[in-house]
This record gives sequence, C-alpha cells and structure tokens, in this order.
Amino acid sequence: EPKTYSYKLVLLGESAVGKSSLVLRFVRNVFCEYQESTIGAAYLTKTLTLKDCIVKLEIWDTAGQERYHSLAPMYYRGAPAAIVVYDITNRDSFERAKDWVRELQKSGGVGVIALAANKCDLEPRRVPASEAEAYAEDSGCIYMETSAKNNINVAELFQQIAIKLPKQ
Ligand code: GTP
Ligand code: MG
Repeated sequence: EPKTYSYKLVLLGESAVGKSSLVLRFVRNVFCEYQESTIGAAYLTKTLTLKDCIVKLEIWDTAGQERYHSLAPMYYRGAPAAIVVYDITNRDSFERAKDWVRELQKSGGVGVIALAANKCDLEPRRVPASEAEAYAEDSGCIYMETSAKNNINVAELFQQIAIKLPKQ
C-alpha cells in the first residue's frame, strides 16, 4: 500500500503568462484560447502516482494582476513548492518572474521552486532559453519550457516538483 503525501503548491507570475492555463491543462487536460483573468485565486487539486508513493497537490493558482500582489504571501506562506511562470515572448514577464523568485527565497519557506518558460509554441522569443536556464540553475530552480496550448512539458513540470518534494 503506497503512502500518500499532500503538499500545497502555488503558481505566481505576471498576468496573462498562462498560470491558469497550465493548471487547467494539468488537472483537466483542457486549454482555452480565451481563458479569463483570475480574480483573487483559484484552488484545484490533483493526485499523482510516483514510483514509491502518491502525491496530492493542493494547487493555488493566484491572480497575476498587480492589484492582487499584496495577497500573494497568503498563498505562498506554508507552501513547500511554487511554480513561477513567465511568457517567453514577453521580456518584462521574465523580469517579473525573477522578482517572484527573489521574494520567495527571501520568505524562506518555499523549498522547491520551478521556473516555467511558458508559451514555447509562440514566436518571437524574447528570452533566450540559455539565459533563463542559467538563471534557474544559479538560483536553484527547476527549469522547464512549457506550452499549455500544445501540452508540452506540463505533466513533466508538476511531476518533477512532486519528485523533488521531501517525503517524510
Ligand atoms: P492571470 O489570471 O490574469 O494572472 O493570467 P494567467 O497567468 O492565469 O494567464 P491565462 O492562463 O489566463 O492565459 C492568458 C492567455 O494566454 C489566454 O488567452 C491563454 O489562452 C493564453 N495562453 C496560455 N498559455 C498559453 C500557451 O502555452 N501558448 C499560447 N499560445 N497561449 C497560451
Ligand atoms: Mg489566471
């Protein structure tokens, strides 16, 4: 009988980078071209089966619009994992993602951070993969190029986080 572990996971990043789209692709395997901007935050769960255990992810998909920024600590406090998302066609969203990584690392509690380079199906790319990958490595983050639209590396992103979370 494999053991089940539950973890809170929070998604952060600028508005419209595709946080909700990544979560909805992962949890329900759907994609919406006209996904509505999140208000406050949305809560979804998904259970993953790993080799030796079962991992239940309690996912908080936060709102990226600037007016919600002050709410973010409510969602990342006590979360052992976070996904910080940016859009590879939007340089500002990468700079914003780095701010989120710094904020999470300053807060100290979030052990596993993944940087998701989303919309990798789109052009033109404004953030070279080599640059983002080097940044992720320097800051101890998982790095993954994703597309919620084309379902590229979405399950892999959540799976890598689940594997990295401490089991005790
Ligand atoms: P907020 O809730 O405002 O913080 O935004 P969000 O980060 O949740 O973004 P959302 O998932 O709402 O996606 C914004 C827009 O980008 C929508 O029109 C999506 O269809 C589109 N989108 C999301 N992911 C992708 C992707 O991988 N590729 C492409 N081409 N479009 C995407
Ligand atoms: Mg959203």
